[in-house]
Amino acid sequence: MTGLITKIEEIVRERFANDSTGHDWWHIDRVRKNALRLASAESADPEVTELAALLHDIADHKFHGGDLSVGPATAKALLDELGCEQHIISQVVTIVTEVSFKGAGVETAVSSKEAACVQDADRLDAIGAIGVARAFAYGGKNDRLLYHPDHKPTLHADFHSYYNDKGHTINHFYEKLLLLKDRMQTASGKAEAESRHQFMKQFLDEFYREWG
Ligand code: ADP
Ligand code: NI
Repeated sequence: MTGLITKIEEIVRERFANDSTGHDWWHIDRVRKNALRLASAESADPEVTELAALLHDIADHKFHGGDLSVGPATAKALLDELGCEQHIISQVVTIVTEVSFKGAGVETAVSSKEAACVQDADRLDAIGAIGVARAFAYGGKNDRLLYHPDHKPTLHADFHSYYNDKGHTINHFYEKLLLLKDRMQTASGKAEAESRHQFMKQFLDEFYREWG
């Protein structure tokens, strides 16, 4: 298993080396480390957690026309090719399917402790100071305005309206980032999300003050 994790790490590190959307290798590495920290508190399987964390964004729907099936399929193909055991592949593929946020009104339940740890770690990296940095990196790369005072946020009821919304980046805080602290799955994830949430609120207060 250690050899498999090292191989996956090498592949992912290379594939994500030059990303400028906030989904670079260091995002994957932070998610992996936080997921392992949560896994130890939750007594989740560290190897399944680490593999899924490394593969969670391998073919993200945001970069594949909103297709949610490409990520799990790519993860499965890679693990198959490397000779991973089928019962591990099936756990990892389920986690990759469950991890993503899909709109304010869409429930994203998890079916295992390992999935809870990977989803929480990915969500922690979307909030706080790093979350702010990543949101504006993504917005810039995708031609979004920083802010438009007349364009109000939408709480999307389904994945397609969430995916197709090309609104300004400040709206993304209300449509996703500020909602995450109440959707954390683990106790330690929730505690860390609380302080990152407060930081984002301070950031928004200061942003509006400077905007005038
Ligand atoms: P998820 O799978 O839950 O979307 P990711 O690891 O792929 O999680 O990262 C999502 C991050 O991408 C967001 O937290 C944000 O930083 C950025 N992002 C996605 N959509 C937008 C958007 N519309 N505006 C700004 N940032 C966005
Ligand atoms: Ni991610």
